[in-house]
Amino acid sequence: MRTRPLKVALLGCGVVGSEVARIMTTHADDLAARIGAPVELAGVAVRRPDKVREGIDPSLVTTDATALVKRGDIDVVVEVIGGIEPARTLITTAFEHGASVVSANKALLAQDGAALHAAADENDKDLYYEAAVAGAIPLIRPLRESLAGDKVNRVLGIVNGTTNFILDAMDTTGAGYQEALDEATALGYAEADPTADVEGFDAAAKAAILAGIAFHTRVRLDDVYREGMTEVTAADFASAKEMGCTIKLLAICERAADGASVTARVHPAMIPLSHPLANVRGAYNAVFVESDAAGQLMFYGPGAGGSPTASAVLGDLVAVCRNRLSGATGPGESAYAALPVSPMGDVVTRYHISLDVADKPGVLAQVATVFAEHGVSIDTVRQQGKDGEASLVVVTHRASDAALGGTVEALRKLDTVRGVASIMRVEGE
Ligand SMILES: NC(=O)c1ccc[n+]([C@@H]2O[C@H](COP(=O)([O-])OP(=O)(O)OC[C@H]3O[C@@H](n4cnc5c(N)ncnc54)[C@H](OP(=O)(O)O)[C@@H]3O)[C@@H](O)[C@H]2O)c1
Repeated sequence: MRTRPLKVALLGCGVVGSEVARIMTTHADDLAARIGAPVELAGVAVRRPDKVREGIDPSLVTTDATALVKRGDIDVVVEVIGGIEPARTLITTAFEHGASVVSANKALLAQDGAALHAAADENDKDLYYEAAVAGAIPLIRPLRESLAGDKVNRVLGIVNGTTNFILDAMDTTGAGYQEALDEATALGYAEADPTADVEGFDAAAKAAILAGIAFHTRVRLDDVYREGMTEVTAADFASAKEMGCTIKLLAICERAADGASVTARVHPAMIPLSHPLANVRGAYNAVFVESDAAGQLMFYGPGAGGSPTASAVLGDLVAVCRNRLSGATGPGESAYAALPVSPMGDVVTRYHISLDVADKPGVLAQVATVFAEHGVSIDTVRQQGKDGEASLVVVTHRASDAALGGTVEALRKLDTVRGVASIMRVEGE
């Protein structure tokens, strides 16, 4: 074993960074044995230097992250600050000054992954980010390396624990959205401002990263269609149950049937209770991968939290340190397929539409005609009448999102349709 240690700069020492530092210390001997050289924490950049940080030597703490990454003797920079800046500049500066980088920063990777990979390549350095998607769950390395000889056709996942906790609570207790969100906040599963989670921004960043890796194609954050889950109601869950389904916020990355394009999207969807993702409870994450040769694979586990996320960071750190010792770099960005990313209108799936209609003869025929005119074939219809008003629940066969959109627009114009109570896609069949 080499006795000269590999030097690690830790940028950020919050929820994730403090756990990274703790595991680096408590598992130092094992890490050294696995890497073939000791790993030394050479500096810790934070915003508040005076905060007491258990287990961290105060002499290592600095507020000057730029000076730390510019030192020139750092082998690996671990970026767990989060956000776009200063993280982006610090990472590129780290490459320029000889370090490889491990990051957990989904927002930055989804927005600027291509440029960061290019900076890593130019400087012949590694950029690893297993922790950026689904916390502890090994997903990026399986897609990048284990499935490198296969052809991935679909990635379907629950990649946000907060939204899964809320939807699971709504499902199991019958609670409304706000009540379930309040519970999630009280238990620490939702942040004070839950927008990034409940509006699907966090999941969309992960979908962009996953689609890019799965399809060897650059998928930008803007390419990902996004719908949040704040409009999901207890009535939607009741409808889902009647269909033998539950509701999950899903990230779905798909190759088109002809293989010539891909799509990436995040939205709430009904999935059959028989689907493995339906049984992912609480704040857990799970990702279902479908590929030509392997068939169906499921990856399941804690998608967030300091210690689980640090596990993924440490796995990357070991891999990058090993590369460093052997004078090699791991796989970089693979975007050679350069497939076009199709808009949401091209996505083909099934739909569950709930309409408030007048309870009078001929309404059903009128509604059915609108569906037929737009080429959307109806699978089942359920009607419930009350006091001259009725609700009509239509489940369609597979149709394009554009065709469904046209159908709904036309339905809204019918005098007999009082309103469209909900539209939900049905996935996983
Ligand atoms: N938390 C999770 O469960 C989880 C899961 C997966 C991925 N991630 C990702 O991991 C990253 C870190 O998340 P986190 O939850 O650990 O965040 P956090 O608890 O807010 O910690 C952020 C750390 O960065 C430091 N910091 C902020 N701005 C800085 C600056 N300008 N210069 C130097 N240090 C700065 C903070 O310093 P102070 O301590 O002085 O405030 C803090 O130590 C994010 O990219 C996040 O998306 C987190």
